Parts: sequence; structure tokens; C-alpha cells
Amino acid sequence: MNIIEVKDYQAMSEKASLYVIDKVREAPFINLGLATGGTPIGLYKLLVEDYRKNHTSYKNVTTFNLDEYVGLSGNHPNSYRYFMNEKLFNHIGIKKINTFIPNGAADDILNECNMYEQLINQKGGIDLQILGIGSNGHIGFNEPGTKFDSRTHIVDLAPSTREANARFFNTPNEVPTKAITMGISTIMKSKEILLLISGESKSDALHRLLHDGVCESFPASVLKNHPKVTIIADEAALRKKLTLTSCC
Ligand code: GLP
Repeated sequence: MNIIEVKDYQAMSEKASLYVIDKVREAPFINLGLATGGTPIGLYKLLVEDYRKNHTSYKNVTTFNLDEYVGLSGNHPNSYRYFMNEKLFNHIGIKKINTFIPNGAADDILNECNMYEQLINQKGGIDLQILGIGSNGHIGFNEPGTKFDSRTHIVDLAPSTREANARFFNTPNEVPTKAITMGISTIMKSKEILLLISGESKSDALHRLLHDGVCESFPASVLKNHPKVTIIADEAALRKKLTLTSCC
């Protein structure tokens, strides 16, 4: 894993945006894997700014998002589809039909998971996957204990994840209890991975990622088995020493 150290959230977002813009310019038909949450918001803002200023073209880009809440349709303001439209897709000239996110309101969620996995494969797989990390080491919504050979599947969200994401909802009770997520093996099939980590709340997770072994109780640790991972981490995320008990 290649680590790029930066000062703060803004510097992380800038570095990540330059990284992504370069890739899109080099490979206009790129398949990008995208993440939600607070971490990539700065990156998306800068991609939009670049599109306005420099007209980087997304007209041939295809995107696959990591995950979606079960029970929320794409029109729901807390759905990840809504988030992506608002933060990125509505502003960069991408064709909406080329932006894929699992449908959390599908009648048959199991079928939706299988179709999503197939779709990624049919489109040639993900070239560059952007990831954030949960403080418990989750990637996508793959909570601790998820099998490394998992494909797109339905998950029960950990209480800590629901709590962390409650800030985006009116009340904590509104946070869905289930989600669809790309599996760990889906993520690992990406040709390249860019992991963004910012802030003190992620410092234990980053420390554990860098210093512990690979085990399913800490999902992000699987990234050590991937041949091409770049981490962009800020000082606050890199500062703190490990306080969690290691299991690996
Ligand atoms: C969320 C998302 C993940 C994200 C992580 C961290 O629940 N499902 O894809 O990377 O948790 O979120 P944040 O960036 O808000 O800290």
C-alpha cells in the first residue's frame, strides 16, 4: 500500500481530485467505483469545480457506487442515489444511465444484489475504486466479520455504523437497519483502489490497518492483499496511537 500524507481534509480532497482527474483524462472510458459518506464530499466538490473550469469530460465515464440503504428509493434525500446526484452527477455532464447504484427499494433485494454484481462484471469491472473507511474498519458496508469472498449482498448495519451515519438523518431512528453493499471480493476485484482517510475519529482504524495483520474482523485489512492501493491520509488520522485491542 502506498501512503500519501497530507495536512488536512482539504489537502486530502485536493490530492484525491487531482488523482481522479488524471485517471479520467488518461482513460475517458474509465469505470469508477464511488463512495458516499462525509469523506469524499470535498473530492466531489473539487471534481465539480474542475469540470466547470477545465471541462474534464465524464461523458464516457461509468460509475458504480459501493452501497445503498435498503428501503430508501432514489428520491429519498438520505438515499445514496440522491447524495450522488446532488454532490456529483448533476454537475459534471455524466450520463445518468451510466451511473449505477444498487436499488435499495427493489422488491427482490437478493436479486438486486446478484444483478449488481453481474452488471459490474459485464461492464468490464472497476478500474479505480474510491473508498472511505468506517471507524470499525468497514469498507462499503462490509461490517466486521464479513467474509473476504463475499460478493454484493445485503447486510445488517452495525449499531456503531448507524450511530455514525445518524448525523445525515433527522432522527437516529430513521437510519435504516439494512443496506446493500458490494462485497469484499467485489471491491478487491477493482484494478486499483484509492482509500481516503481524514480526522482523528479514523486514527485507530488507520493505525490498525497499517500495523495489524489481515483478518475478517477488520474488513479494511484485506486491502493489504491488493496489488494497487493508494491511501491518502491526513495528519489527524495519522497522529493517534492505537487504543483498540487487536485481534489479528
Ligand atoms: C459509510 C459508508 C462507507 C463510508 C464509511 C465512512 O457508512 N457506507 O462507504 O466509507 O461509512 O463514512 P464517513 O466518510 O462519513 O466517515
